[in-house]
Amino acid sequence: MLSKKMSKAMNHQVNRELYSAYLYLSMAAYFRSINLNGFANWMEIQCQEEMTHAQKFYQFIDERGEKVVLEAIEAPPHTWKTPLQVFEETFKHEQHVTSLINNLVKLAQTENDYASHSFLQWFVNEQVEEESTADDIVQQLKLVGNQGQGLFMLDRELGQRVFTMPSQSD
Ligand code: FEO
Repeated sequence: MLSKKMSKAMNHQVNRELYSAYLYLSMAAYFRSINLNGFANWMEIQCQEEMTHAQKFYQFIDERGEKVVLEAIEAPPHTWKTPLQVFEETFKHEQHVTSLINNLVKLAQTENDYASHSFLQWFVNEQVEEESTADDIVQQLKLVGNQGQGLFMLDRELGQRVFTMPSQSD
């Protein structure tokens, strides 16, 4: 069984992961609207990944004998000035998600909930990757600036990203 506090916090994390999916889908739509379809592809896959994060929490809450209660998801922003601004926001958002995961880990510790603590380690590691990938793209965009050819090359590179379903232990 999850404690009431833990259950509430995990339910809220389902919502935050779904919001992340919503945010990245909105960013994908922005990139489609300015014909940067490789950037859009990257964001669409990011959206799919966030859905799997939400599903992991959903399954875990159910496995621990609690009911998932979905909360409202707010509308994400829908327009940005530049690709750089989008990725700076992505990086900032992932840092925020890391802080939410860290808070869940702290709660699991104070509640002596070893199963939740163990479950959350996957997310601790995932956030390292999430932040690093977003920051890499920020740095690349800073190098490229608004130069057409560099942006075109980066668009092609980001267009290669494919979705892979994370395994249970992955
Ligand atoms: Fe589910 Fe990008 O953190």
